Amino acid sequence: MRPGIRLLALSGSLRARSSNGAVLHSALGLHDGPATTADIGALPHFNPDLDGEGATPPPAVAALRAAAGAADAILVVSPEYAHGVPGVLKNALDWLVSSGECVGKPVAVITASPFPTGGSHANAQLRETLRMMSGQVIDPACLEIPAIGPKTDPTTERVTDEPTLTALRTALSHLTAGAAAQRS
Ligand SMILES: Cc1cc2nc3c(=O)[nH]c(=O)nc-3n(C[C@H](O)[C@H](O)[C@H](O)COP(=O)(O)O)c2cc1C
Repeated sequence: MRPGIRLLALSGSLRARSSNGAVLHSALGLHDGPATTADIGALPHFNPDLDGEGATPPPAVAALRAAAGAADAILVVSPEYAHGVPGVLKNALDWLVSSGECVGKPVAVITASPFPTGGSHANAQLRETLRMMSGQVIDPACLEIPAIGPKTDPTTERVTDEPTLTALRTALSHLTAGAAAQRS
């Protein structure tokens, strides 16, 4: 893993004791460098009228854009809802389309689900959206984690399953290598 890469992690679940939150926090614990998260639940609904030229972005939007702009790489961790991307996460990405902080930025998408599919629909949709936003989606850094329930400890809100932790380490290694390559 490349040290010193500044990571922004976004979770598509607002739920307390979220399994995707556990994945996100475990990934941040494995990351060797500065990391931050953003409160995407505080964002207003995306409205192009608030996003146009001369418009002052709402404070939560400005904070998200600043965090994304300061990051070397972005990690998106999300559940799947109804074979799709949680609205709160799509809303956050919509706020980042025209401001451009994702352009050229290495991005990884991790989805975790209690089901065997591992959130594959949402994972594919997120990768597509991020590619359309000109993010540099690092495919080897993307993971679909099936049967997440017993792989986390709800008390510590961390992943406990060793193979999953190994997969997270590998994913981070690919993501940070992508960011390091961009720096040099
Ligand atoms: C409204 C709703 C729709 C869901 N749809 C899916 C789905 O399409 N695919 C899936 O794998 N899980 C689905 N789930 C189950 C979620 O994966 C599960 O609730 C998961 O724990 C949510 O992630 P979290 O623990 O990080 O909050 C759905 C859950 C809810 C509440």
